[in-house]
Amino acid sequence: MANYFTIRWENGRVVMIDQRLLPHTIRYNEYDTVDGIAEAIRTMVIRGAPAIGVAAAYGLALSAQQSPAKNQAGLIRDMRAAGEVLLAARPTAVNLAWAVDRILNRAARAEINSVEQLRVDIKAWADDLAKEDGETNRRMGEYGLSVVPQGAQIIHHCNTGTLATVDFGTALGVIRAAHESGRNVFVYVDETRPRLQGARLTAWELQQLGIPFAVITDSASGYFMRQGKVDLCLVGCDRVAANGDTANKIGTYNLALVAKAHHVPFYVVGPTSTIDIETKNGDDIPIEERSTDEVTHIGTAHITPDGAGAVNPAFDITPAHLISGIITEKGIVYPPYLKNLSKFFGSSPD
Ligand code: MRU
Repeated sequence: MANYFTIRWENGRVVMIDQRLLPHTIRYNEYDTVDGIAEAIRTMVIRGAPAIGVAAAYGLALSAQQSPAKNQAGLIRDMRAAGEVLLAARPTAVNLAWAVDRILNRAARAEINSVEQLRVDIKAWADDLAKEDGETNRRMGEYGLSVVPQGAQIIHHCNTGTLATVDFGTALGVIRAAHESGRNVFVYVDETRPRLQGARLTAWELQQLGIPFAVITDSASGYFMRQGKVDLCLVGCDRVAANGDTANKIGTYNLALVAKAHHVPFYVVGPTSTIDIETKNGDDIPIEERSTDEVTHIGTAHITPDGAGAVNPAFDITPAHLISGIITEKGIVYPPYLKNLSKFFGSSPD
């Protein structure tokens, strides 16, 4: 059990660790409005696809509690408006829309005795979503074991640990499961420019788990693969299209290309809530553009000449043909993805 938490509901407020300040400052922020939660998602106090899905679910629970509506239709109307605010916070990770749809659909279909009871139920559904996250991740960890050889040296990109989820993590969860089952793994941690989720967050989590690692620059992966020092790449995902094309943190595509060139297996790890069967292929996935300050600055240090232009896509698309397999809580999906993903995509929002 980690001695920190990503997100929790406490006394009618949503509490989140402020991931912008880690690893050197540990601070928990409290939110009691939908706008506050949306801002926390947008500014990356909380980040990682599953974690922002849970944040959105709690945002809807807050909106239900604060809505003055006297009947179900009014409550749903207010929650839909809140859902729009939350959805606008970050566009690429589909877990956000998945969580909002799941709560709204349940609220709309509920046969209620009182609006007050519905408000209580909505908060309980958000709690369920948070609880399921840890269970889902542990299952992915178990399935993932089959692709991790004894003594594996693994490259990992971005942060996919407890901090990106509610508990255990996705790609980092597979690494954790391998470590706990005595596989003796070593992790090369991509620093993950521009926001350094690898250097700041993944290194912090691995340190606490006692898993051996070294932080490397994103551009060093080819160097280590050419030396035969990498057995496996494990990354998370923000949205997987029906054909297997995968959106994940910028730099994932480069890593997949280098892995292909060196015949290193490249696995994506993500819950089925990240699979978006409605999106045909990677070209249809919206890619978030973030402030160019993230590129021109490292922390508060301005590293480019004054006035230098920059572009900052937060995610890229890794084409399906570069992906060896997709590890989900229902099993590992292998190519052809178009056919095999739809088999795994059983659970529609309820
Ligand atoms: O911009 P971020 O930090 O939210 O990006 C996170 C990632 O790209 C993760 O790899 C992805 O969300 C999966 S996290 C379990």
